[in-house]
Amino acid sequence: MCGIVGYIGDKQAQPILLNCLARMEYRGYDSCGIAVTGGSIKVCKDVKRVQELTTTMPRIGGLAGIGHTRWATHGEPSQVNAHPHLDCSGNIAVVHNGVINNFQKLKQQLVAEGHSFVSQTDTEVIPHLIEKYYDGNLEEAVETALRDVEGSYAIIVLAAKEPKLIVARKDSPLIIGVGDRENFIASDVPAVLDYTNRALYLEDGDIGIVAKDGIVVKRGGTRVEREEHRILWSVEDAQKGGYEHFMLKEIHEQPRVIRDTLGDYTQQNGSASLMDADIKSLLILACGTSYHAALVGKYIIEDLLNIPVRVELASELNYWAPSLAGTGALAITQSGETADILKAMKKLRGVGCPVLVITNVVGSSASRIASQTVYTRAGPEISVAATKSFTAQLMVLYWLAMSYSKADARRLADMVMGIRQLPNKVQQVLDNKDEIIKSAKYLAGYENAFFIGRGINFPIALEGALKLKEISYIHAEGCAAGELKHGPFALLGEDIPVIAIVAQDNTYEAMLTNIREVKARGAPVIALAEEGDKDIDQLADSVLTLPKGDAIFSPVVNTVALQLLAYYTARHRGCPIDTPRNLAKSVTVE
Ligand code: M6R
Repeated sequence: MCGIVGYIGDKQAQPILLNCLARMEYRGYDSCGIAVTGGSIKVCKDVKRVQELTTTMPRIGGLAGIGHTRWATHGEPSQVNAHPHLDCSGNIAVVHNGVINNFQKLKQQLVAEGHSFVSQTDTEVIPHLIEKYYDGNLEEAVETALRDVEGSYAIIVLAAKEPKLIVARKDSPLIIGVGDRENFIASDVPAVLDYTNRALYLEDGDIGIVAKDGIVVKRGGTRVEREEHRILWSVEDAQKGGYEHFMLKEIHEQPRVIRDTLGDYTQQNGSASLMDADIKSLLILACGTSYHAALVGKYIIEDLLNIPVRVELASELNYWAPSLAGTGALAITQSGETADILKAMKKLRGVGCPVLVITNVVGSSASRIASQTVYTRAGPEISVAATKSFTAQLMVLYWLAMSYSKADARRLADMVMGIRQLPNKVQQVLDNKDEIIKSAKYLAGYENAFFIGRGINFPIALEGALKLKEISYIHAEGCAAGELKHGPFALLGEDIPVIAIVAQDNTYEAMLTNIREVKARGAPVIALAEEGDKDIDQLADSVLTLPKGDAIFSPVVNTVALQLLAYYTARHRGCPIDTPRNLAKSVTVE
C-alpha cells in the first residue's frame, strides 16, 4: 500500500527522503516520488523503483520535503498519477495514503471554481482544497479542507515558503519520528529507524504541525498532548542481516520470536481481561495469514477452554450482523492497519462487544480501536509474506488458551514442557533443510499444487498454499484432506503434486487413507511427517521429516517447513520474493 514520508531539519531533505522511501518499499508500490522546498517546490516522481529514481533524478536542494510510494487505486500507475501532487500555483504539495471517497464531487466543484487537474487520482483534490482555503494560515487551511473530505487519509502537506510540514490522519497509519533539531514523518516505523527511535502517534482527527524544532498537535484548533514512545525495534531488525531476502531472515528469526513472545507473557503475568469476563463464546476475526492463525486458535481454545469459537474473515463480517450475545471478540492482525479488520472491529465495538486485538505494531490503529491489546514480539516484518508474525500470533493463542484452560493439571504440565521445547524444534527444522530444498526444486517445475491436512493442521494446509502461491506464483489450493473426494479429485493427476501434512494425532489413520487415494490417482505426494514414521516412507514420494512433539504444537513446526518450501520454490523460479507482484504488506483499503 502507499507509504508517505516527510523530513524537516538542518540537513538536505532529498537523500533522507529517498532513504526513508527505500525502507518502505516492502509495503508494495508501483511508482514513487518526492517534493523538496528550498523556497520553491521541486517535484521528481515516476513509475520507477526508489533506487532507480535515486540514481536518475537531479539534485534538489532544500531542508524540508515529502515523499511517497504509490500503490495505485484511482488511476493507472503513471508519472502523472504518482505523488506528490500540487495545487494550481505549485506552492502546495501533498502526499496521501488512503482513499477519498467523495473526490469526484469535490473535483467537479473545484473545476467549476477554476482549478485545473492533471491526474486521475483522488488525492489531487487535497492540494486544491488547501489552496482554496489558504489565507496565510496553512494549518487552518488543511483543517478546513479536510472537513470537506470523506474517506481515509494520512497526509503530509509541504508549502513552498512555510518552515513546517502539516500532517493529519484518519483511518490510515502515520507516525512522527522525533529527532534532535529535525523531525520525520512516515507511514510506519521501519522508515525512520535509521534516524530515531522516538515516535509520536497521532489520533484520528489530529492535525500535527511539524517544524525543525518542535511538534505541536491540535484537535479542533486546540492544542493536545500526544505521548512520545520509545521504539523497541532496532535498525538491524529492519535490515537483511546477510540473508538474501527478508523472508529468509524472518523465517530464521522464529526461534527467537517464540522465546520473546512467550517470555513476555510468562514473565509479566499478562492478563487478558476479555477472557476474565464471563464470555460464553468467542468470535475470532482476521484476514489472510492471520486468519489461518485464527483457525488454529479455534482448535486450541475449544480444546482447552471448552467454549464455542467462531472464526470469521473480517472482510465478510462487514456484510452481516452476527448474533453476539455473551460473545467476546478477538481480532488478529500483524500490521494493525488492515482496513477490513479495522472496519469490523469498529462495528463490533459499536454494538458493545469487547474486542481484544493481537497485533505486532505498537500504536497501530487496531490497538486504538480495541478494548485491550496483546502485542506479539515478532519485530518488524518486512517481507510481504507473513512468517514470523504468524508464529508469534500462534504463541499468543497458545498462551491465552493455556492461561485460561480448563484442562487438567497433568495435560497443562505436558503442554508447558512442549511449548518450551518449540524454539529448539523450530531450530532443528531450520538446520536440516536439505530435504526441503530438494523438494522445492522439484515443486518449482509444476504450475499447480494441493496442500492437505486434517484437524489442527487443516489451517496449516491453507497457510502452506497461501505462502506458495503468493511468492512463487504457482497456483496452490489448501484443502481439508477429507474434502478432496468431494470435488478436487477431478483435478488430480501426475501433473499436480499434493503436499500432505501428517500429524501424530487422531487424524493420522485418515490422513494415510487420503494419501493412498491421492496416489491411486497418480499424483505425486510430498509428505510432512514426524521422524520415526515408517508407514509414511512406504506411501509418499518424498518425506520432509520433522521433529517429534506434542501434536497440539505441530502447526508451528509444520508451518516453518512449509515457509521454507515456498521460499526455496520461489527462489528456484527466480521470483521477487520479498515484494510479490500486486501485493502489499499492509492492506489499508477495503
Ligand atoms: O496485517 P494483517 O495481519 O492484518 O494482514 C492480513 C493479511 O493481509 C496478511 O496476513 C497477508 O495474507 C500476508 N501478507 C500473506 O503472507
